[in-house]
Amino acid sequence: MSPTEATSLGHGSSLPADQPVEELALEREVATDEVVVLDYGGQYSQLIARRVRELGVFSELLPHHVGVDEVRRRKPKGLILSGGPASVYAPGAPKLDPELLELGIPVLGICYGMQALVLTLGGKVEGAEVGEFGRSQLTVAEHGRLLAGTPDSQQCWMSHRDTVYEAPEGFTPLASSTESPVAALEDVERGLYGIQFHPEVVHTPYGQQVLTTFLEDIAGASRTWSAANIIDEQVEAIRKQVGDGKVICGLSGGVDSSVAALLVHKAVGDQLTCVFVDHGMMRQDEGEQVIAAFRDQFHVPLVAVDAEKRFLDRLKGVSEPEAKRKAIGAEFIRVFEEEAAKLGDAKFLVQGTLYSDVIESGGGTGAATIKSHHNVGGLPEDMEFALVEPLRALFKDEVRAVGAELGLPEKFVWRQPFPGPGLAIRIVGGEATKERLDTLRAADFILQDEIRKAGLYRELWQSFCVLPDIRTVGVQGDERTYGYVVAIRAVTSDDAMTADWARLPYDLLEQIASRMINEIREVNRVVLDITSKPPGTIEWE
Ligand code: XMP
Repeated sequence: MSPTEATSLGHGSSLPADQPVEELALEREVATDEVVVLDYGGQYSQLIARRVRELGVFSELLPHHVGVDEVRRRKPKGLILSGGPASVYAPGAPKLDPELLELGIPVLGICYGMQALVLTLGGKVEGAEVGEFGRSQLTVAEHGRLLAGTPDSQQCWMSHRDTVYEAPEGFTPLASSTESPVAALEDVERGLYGIQFHPEVVHTPYGQQVLTTFLEDIAGASRTWSAANIIDEQVEAIRKQVGDGKVICGLSGGVDSSVAALLVHKAVGDQLTCVFVDHGMMRQDEGEQVIAAFRDQFHVPLVAVDAEKRFLDRLKGVSEPEAKRKAIGAEFIRVFEEEAAKLGDAKFLVQGTLYSDVIESGGGTGAATIKSHHNVGGLPEDMEFALVEPLRALFKDEVRAVGAELGLPEKFVWRQPFPGPGLAIRIVGGEATKERLDTLRAADFILQDEIRKAGLYRELWQSFCVLPDIRTVGVQGDERTYGYVVAIRAVTSDDAMTADWARLPYDLLEQIASRMINEIREVNRVVLDITSKPPGTIEWE
C-alpha cells in the first residue's frame, strides 16, 4: 500500500483539538434522525459522518471531549466512536467518558473507538508485536446482530497496532483476523458494539452493510436525510433568518456559490441579487454560461460585471504569485463593494461555506467564517453583512445532490474546483497578459473538451493547463518555430489535501497535444506534469 493509496480513500481530517463546541452547532429546522460521530482524531473521522449521511441518516462530527450534555441535546439515535492515531495507553490519549455508554442509545466503536470502549469496560487491550495496516481478512465466528448477513470470511481494512485480546464481560466476540484475536464484538443487551476494521473505506466491501445494520436495525434510525429534505430545511431556515431583507450573493459559477444562490432564491426570490464579476481570468464561455443559467433559466436577478480591463490593468508588471493573488483579491473586493453600494440596503451576504470548512477551519460565526483561500482574496471583515450560509451543514457530495435536485445544469453541478484568481495563477513565472490568457484559455478549452469526450471529467478532481513564461524551439512544416509550452495537469483527489497525478491514456494525451499545437498558433510543445501532492501542489503557483 502506498501512502497515496491509503489517503486516497477519503482522508477526512479531524477536528482541531481546541475547537469550541458551540461553533459547530448546526441549526436544524426539520427533524430527521441523527447519529453523532465522536472524533478521536482519526484520519477517516469525517468520512464516517459522510458515509452515515450517504445511507440517509443525518450525522454530525463532534470532538470526543464534547460532553454528554451536548450529545444528549441532539437526541441522537446512535453514537459512533471514531478511530484515532494514539495508543489507548499513550500519555494524554483521549478517554471515553463512561457516561456516554449510559445514554440509552446504541454505541458503535470503530478501531480506537472500539479499543477505548473495551478498555473502559474492563476488557484486555494490548500493543501487538506486529501492527495490522492495510487489507486484512476477517474470519467471522458468530455473526451476532452487527455482522448479520455478511460472509464468514471477508476482506476488511485495518490500521492499528493496539489490539483487543479479550472482550469485556457480557460481550460476545464475533470475529478475528490474523493479528486481531477480537476484531468485532457486541453486547446486544447494553447496545454496545465494536469493530477493529474500518467500515467507512472502500477496501472494506461489507463496510456499508455493517453501517446500515447499525443505523437501521440496531439504532432504529429512519433513513430520510436526502437532498429534497435538505432543501425544505434550508428554505425554511433562510426565510426565518432573512425576513423581508435584501440579500446579496457573489456568484462565481462554482458549484458552492451556485447552489447557495439557488437555495436562497428559492427561499426569498427577488430579494436576492447575485453579482458575477468577470475578471477576465475565467475559462472559455464561463461568463456566458453563468448568465444563461442564472438570468435566463432561473430568473435570478443578476448583475454581471465585465471587469476584464480593470483587472488586466491592475496585473500589469505583476509576476510574483502571491502579488497576483493579492492584486486580484483587492480588485475583486473593490468591484464587489461598488456593486453592493449600488444595491443600497442589502443586509445579508450569502456564503457557500461547507461543513468541511466548518469542521476544518474552526467553525465560528460571522466574518471569521469567510473563506479566504476559496474566495478571491476573501471579502473584507468590515463589510457589515449578516452571513447566510445555507450549505453550512453539507458535504460537497450533498451540495451536488441539492444542485441536481434544484435543476442546476450538469455542467455546474459537476464543475471541477477552479481557483478564485483563475487563469492568472496558471501563467507561471510571468505576467498574466491578455495574449497569454487567451492562449491558455484556448489550450484549456481543448483539454476539457477531450477529457469530457473521453468520459473522464468527473473522475478527475481537477484537469487544467499551465502556461510557463518560456518559449521553446520547434519545427512545423519546414519552418523553425519558437512558441509557448503548455503543461497538462490532471489529478485525482478527494479534497485537495493530497492528490495523485492522473494516468490519462496515451492516445488521449496524443490527441490533446496534437490539437493544441495544430489549433493554437502560439503553442509548439505540450508536456505532462507527473507530480503528486505532496511533494507538488496542485496549482503551479
Ligand atoms: P494547491 O495548489 O495548494 O491547491 O495544491 C489546492 C486547491 O486549492 C485551489 N487553489 C485556490 N483556490 N484561490 C482559490 O480560490 C487560490 O488562490 C487558490 N490556490 C489554489 C486549487 O485549485 C486546488 O483545488
